[in-house]
Amino acid sequence: MIVCVCNAITEQEIRASTELGISSFDDLQEELGVGTCCGMCQDCARQVLEDHLREPARA
Ligand code: FES
Repeated sequence: MIVCVCNAITEQEIRASTELGISSFDDLQEELGVGTCCGMCQDCARQVLEDHLREPARA
């Protein structure tokens, strides 16, 4: 699922970032650029990040 349309960032990419140690939205923005264009995806991206931090390593 695409989370950030502007930067074509998927939920899978956000999950992969959490597995590499990303644990905050600021870090995620720096790593992937998510939410750095129009900003419309920020709430969704934060939610996806929190979900994956809470429930890591879902195959
Ligand atoms: S949809 Fe993510 S910055 Fe626009």
